[in-house]
Amino acid sequence: MLYSGPAFSVAALGDGIVELKFDLAGESVNKLNQTALKDLDSATQAIAKDASVKGVILTSGKTVFIVGADVTEFGAMFAAGEESVAKGVLEVNRMLCRFEDLPVPTVVAINGVCLGGGLELALACDYRVMSPTASVGFPEVKLGIFPGFGGSVRLPRVIGIDNAVEWICSGADKKADAALKDGAVDAVVAPEHLRDAAIAMVKQCIAGKLDWKGRRAEKLAPLKLNAIEQAMAFTSSMAVVGAQAGPNYPAPMLALKNMQQAASLGRDAAIEVEAKYFAKAAVTPQAKALIGVFLADQVVKKAAGAWEKKSTKQISQAAVLGAGIMGGGIAYQSAVKGTPIVMKDIREEALALGMGEASKLLSKQVERGRISPEKMGETLGRIRPTLNYGDFGGVDIIIEAVVENPKVKKAVFAEVEGVVREDTIIASNTSTISITSLAEGLKRPQNFVGMHFFNPVHMMPLVEVIRGKQSSDAALAATVKLATKMGKTPVVVNDCPGFFVNRVLFPYFAGFHMLLRDGADFLAVDKAMEKFGWPMGPAYLMDVVGMDTAVHAAGVMAAGFPDRMKPDWKTTTQVMVENQRFGQKNGKGYYVYAPDKKGKPKKTVDPTVNGLIAPVVAPRKEFAPEEIVARCMVPMVNEVARCLEEKIVATPYEADMALIFGIGFPPFRGGACRYVDQSGVGNFVALCEKYASLGKPYEAPKLLRDMAAAGKKFFG
Ligand SMILES: NC(=O)c1ccc[n+]([C@@H]2O[C@H](COP(=O)([O-])OP(=O)(O)OC[C@H]3O[C@@H](n4cnc5c(N)ncnc54)[C@H](O)[C@@H]3O)[C@@H](O)[C@H]2O)c1
Repeated sequence: MLYSGPAFSVAALGDGIVELKFDLAGESVNKLNQTALKDLDSATQAIAKDASVKGVILTSGKTVFIVGADVTEFGAMFAAGEESVAKGVLEVNRMLCRFEDLPVPTVVAINGVCLGGGLELALACDYRVMSPTASVGFPEVKLGIFPGFGGSVRLPRVIGIDNAVEWICSGADKKADAALKDGAVDAVVAPEHLRDAAIAMVKQCIAGKLDWKGRRAEKLAPLKLNAIEQAMAFTSSMAVVGAQAGPNYPAPMLALKNMQQAASLGRDAAIEVEAKYFAKAAVTPQAKALIGVFLADQVVKKAAGAWEKKSTKQISQAAVLGAGIMGGGIAYQSAVKGTPIVMKDIREEALALGMGEASKLLSKQVERGRISPEKMGETLGRIRPTLNYGDFGGVDIIIEAVVENPKVKKAVFAEVEGVVREDTIIASNTSTISITSLAEGLKRPQNFVGMHFFNPVHMMPLVEVIRGKQSSDAALAATVKLATKMGKTPVVVNDCPGFFVNRVLFPYFAGFHMLLRDGADFLAVDKAMEKFGWPMGPAYLMDVVGMDTAVHAAGVMAAGFPDRMKPDWKTTTQVMVENQRFGQKNGKGYYVYAPDKKGKPKKTVDPTVNGLIAPVVAPRKEFAPEEIVARCMVPMVNEVARCLEEKIVATPYEADMALIFGIGFPPFRGGACRYVDQSGVGNFVALCEKYASLGKPYEAPKLLRDMAAAGKKFFG
């Protein structure tokens, strides 16, 4: 053994070839943390010192190649400021350049996931071979940064500027065929032959059959583009990337400007430019929030994993009651992810509609070449529509998605408890009604939980799993397991009306209604909230949810929390319902809708709406966008804090992820808790005081006041 360290080892393979193997001690995956980077440099120096070495293959001792840099190290590193970040990445770059500059050829065997820093190290090699099961890519923009270990310098020089811009600015993973097509790798080889292929390639380099020196020289030189080509490439990219990323996500544009400035420079000078722009991106609040989201996601997945471990129950057969919007979506999602499901309704036409929706979604995937027609048939075959309880004896879990009416739901539970096994779990997809109250009258309340999906089911990642007073751990654990199997992110929450997500969404709607009551223009409110980062403003969201549904749910929430969710005035949404304006579902609400070319509802402004709501609103008044944002966000955030106080949701990590995954809270703001942290807890409490006259929803809860007094934050 030529070298052995905590991450890398170097072993002679004969004929002057050595294997530099990355196998990070004590970890299940390889990541380029500080230990690994320092060790790589020591291994490089050991190779450089040994005159007998003629060629190097770089391999991984894990099933992944390298998952990337260690994101947990970013927080402290980036908090040290722009200058320190630039200095830090330049140090790492010097190590990677020392590796790239070894006087012998290097070939990397990419056996599995190779992302971010992993791909940057692979690009520092002369040749790359890849397994068809591996994937490569630069996901950094999803964290608000871009490749900073020389990736934005080497990739354009290897695959051309247009491809590099697409790879870096989209953050997409690339499968082996795409990587080969773009020239990021030189060969795709079956996993069992991968290492041998790398050895064969390095031998060809040593024998002079492959021009590794010429290859390397290209990576050290400026980009091969004349001034006109450069101008064309970057001008068109700027427009596309700028439009795709939008103003709230600065990293892709910073990456692009950096590549433009570095295009006419050699490697070392280009790396200096990269470090400068990387540091700019790293210290943005967006990077901080997005890195927080990444880490919070891991906390949430870990919590779900711990629940799953508690379950020994196999869920081989599911059932859904109700084939409506939600029931149909749940059946589709269960079938797609491999769990057969019986879909029961009381109306034949509802079943036909549910099956029709599932088949429409699958047909789209066939059209896009994502699945074969056979696979579509197989998936549809996993949904069995029925009007009776015939084979409910074989069902492991039932998800109830009938109308939002406690009487109907309770009648259905009584019926269903009589036909299922003693161990069958019954989960309700109710959006607001307390699980504990729905369990009243059940024979086996321990088997009863909430399983709250979001609309549209196939797109929204969150499932709230709700623990009623009598729900057993076993039932919760099995439900969490099914949610994960269905491809969703489950968050276990305690019971109350609205659970976590809807409990905090309705105060936000209350803020919206109060603004309108006080004379705000709903178009201005939507504009301000969309600029804040929400995928749609509250009026538009109301239309999508459905006015009748929203008013009904608001009633449940008002009964549950009369001190702050029961308006003593008539809301504009109530007026909408009275006027049969139910939103998108009947083509008119705050906006009017007509199908576009693709058949999707396109919204336009209806000039009659202001007249309709006039009797319940004050004369028109201008509100500054900051005031609109504050008046909508404060009630939501305060309710999040109350949910944390009452342990409805266990941690700020879960709270933030639930809001991002359930209702599209702007990810670049990191969630409600991170939003408070970034505003400053004290500033946020002061904002609450400013609007205190608007009532209880604006009153900062004790948790926030205490945090402000103690100078504490939710995160680090
Ligand atoms: N639509 C949403 O955005 C949304 C989101 C989350 C949760 N939810 C909840 O999901 C549940 C269903 O909502 P939806 O929007 O799908 O409603 P929906 O009106 O589209 O569908 C309800 C279906 O239940 C059927 N049904 C009624 N009684 C039944 C019975 N006894 N047995 C079997 N089927 C019966 C109806 O025929 C209908 O097809 C509600 O509790 C709702 O609050 C809805």
